[in-house]
Amino acid sequence: MTPRAPLSPPGDIPELDGKVWLYTGAEGPPLARQQAAAQAYLSNRGLAEAGRAAHAEVEERLRRRIATLLGLGPESVALLSNASEAINLVVGSVPLVPGDNIVLNAMEYPSMVQPWLRWASRGVDVRVAPAIGGDVPASSITDLIDDRTKVVGVSHVSYLSGWRHDLTAITAAAEAVGALTLVDATQSLGVVRVPGNQVDVVISSSYKWLLGGHGLGILVWNTARRPLPEPSAVGWRSVGEIFTDDRLERYELHSTARRFEVGLPSYPSIYSLDASLAWLLQFPPEEVEEHVLALTGRLVDELSERGWELLTSTDDAHRAGNVSVRAQHGAELAGELAGRDVHCWGGDGRLRFSLHLFNGDRDVDRLLVALDSMRGPVPSDPRRRGGAGVS
Ligand SMILES: Cc1ncc(COP(=O)(O)O)c(C=O)c1O
Repeated sequence: MTPRAPLSPPGDIPELDGKVWLYTGAEGPPLARQQAAAQAYLSNRGLAEAGRAAHAEVEERLRRRIATLLGLGPESVALLSNASEAINLVVGSVPLVPGDNIVLNAMEYPSMVQPWLRWASRGVDVRVAPAIGGDVPASSITDLIDDRTKVVGVSHVSYLSGWRHDLTAITAAAEAVGALTLVDATQSLGVVRVPGNQVDVVISSSYKWLLGGHGLGILVWNTARRPLPEPSAVGWRSVGEIFTDDRLERYELHSTARRFEVGLPSYPSIYSLDASLAWLLQFPPEEVEEHVLALTGRLVDELSERGWELLTSTDDAHRAGNVSVRAQHGAELAGELAGRDVHCWGGDGRLRFSLHLFNGDRDVDRLLVALDSMRGPVPSDPRRRGGAGVS
């Protein structure tokens, strides 16, 4: 079979020259066009008031691109500093009283858990649906939802196991009791399609699958499903008109999701993400998804044949770009792989390989050759496996 080539030409990401980048679940690689974007930011900054107008144009264009990815309108998009801040702003906007409950699951990133744990000491029940291996069947979440559930917080794709939720059953169960669905799309947006119109709120970081820089978090509030709340923080940017005569007595919040923004956002990050989204949107989303599922599907099969203990589903419907295996000394193994210019994330008892549209079968080949050479011949019984500290 002809090997699958990357969907993008190599010149678009010069950093990849000689490198195998399986690190996107942690950080995406910089794109060549982001140099020009950084330069445009600096040049516009030198234009004083005209520069501010130029920044505003890029900002609005970025809101439209994010909205396009999610099938919603630009008025639903707020630009914050990072995904964790976005989660906190959502948490702060939900009225909770003792006896209410929040439903999470065991495969969540800490940023989805910590802000709710602060409420646990105030009588709110934080329920965590268990995982089976790395899988979290929808029923393990929906079983915990009852008429006191106020929020169901779920990563569309788990940072830990790579499990991809079918959000249909989860949102239906939440909707039935009036609970808000908060979806963390940090590990899915940009690589698989995210059903933004099916959920109440989507948040995401910018520097992973969306290939932006640091300093930006996205909050997308689906006003067609739920009216905008009163945010827990307010500043000049959250209000529509600031120079009113009665500004020392009152303010009126923006009618759009911009009400979540308290001050100026990180414009360098906005230029960077605008450039990466323009690049990403050139590729039809269904082709990106199909490409990545084929690559990760091959990788899970090959790793399993070699005796690695997979945390990731073999079912295409429940996988995206992340493939994880248990590895007791994951950080050391990732370090050894980096020495061979194969970059992945290791730690927390596992190795995670993340494949995006710019990866191809040759990257999978190089990873497998490197892993094989590090571990020596694979014994038939994975439990007796020796080698490089695989648990
Ligand atoms: C699923 C998920 N959510 C949130 C974050 C944190 O993102 P940020 O640094 O933008 O807050 C991460 C980082 O790895 C993540 O994997």
